[in-house]
Amino acid sequence: MTRKLSRLPSHAMARLVPAVATLAALGLAAPAWAQAAPKAYATNCQLCHKPDGKGTPGVFPRLTGRVDAIAAHKDGRKWLIATVLYGQSGAITVDGKPVRGTMGPFARLSDKDIADTLNWLAQGKGRAFTPAEVAAVRGEPGWTLAKVGEMRKKLAGAGVIK
Ligand code: HEC
Repeated sequence: MTRKLSRLPSHAMARLVPAVATLAALGLAAPAWAQAAPKAYATNCQLCHKPDGKGTPGVFPRLTGRVDAIAAHKDGRKWLIATVLYGQSGAITVDGKPVRGTMGPFARLSDKDIADTLNWLAQGKGRAFTPAEVAAVRGEPGWTLAKVGEMRKKLAGAGVIK
């Protein structure tokens, strides 16, 4: 059955036109970061931090809308990379709610996968993470799960992590 748009009754056209216009506007207005999450995020992170990166209040920290602010700080960037590499455990406060969970290490991910994931979480804001930046933190001696926790305390105390 082929039916031309022009033969649709006018009330149907009236409903169709705004719908098409809305879809077009959504497509055009979508910023670069609104693309699908990188495969590394979808495979390794979204089960807990959710497909939109907003987590579950009190259980899994929200990352989107927080990572960009943390990444604007020099030590915040390092801590973000180290957190993914070494994991994180212990009592923290996120969005005013206590979280007491444990996240395992993701050192098995490539430098590029970690950079892509953090860039997606930062929603294209600020200076982009590069694989070289991830490699530099990976190559620094002395990082442990405990050090990640200590650094988080300092950054939270300084208001970098909220
Ligand atoms: C099994 C669930 C789980 C998975 C999978 C997971 N996380 Fe987490 N993540 C957590 C939990 C729980 C915390 C908070 C740990 C705590 O309470 O100290 C956390 C904390 C974080 C933090 C620090 C948040 C803060 O405010 O301190 C970052 C950044 C992060 N995760 C990124 C990632 C990335 C990137 C991935 C994928 C490579 C990932 N997570 C995979 C559960 C998970």
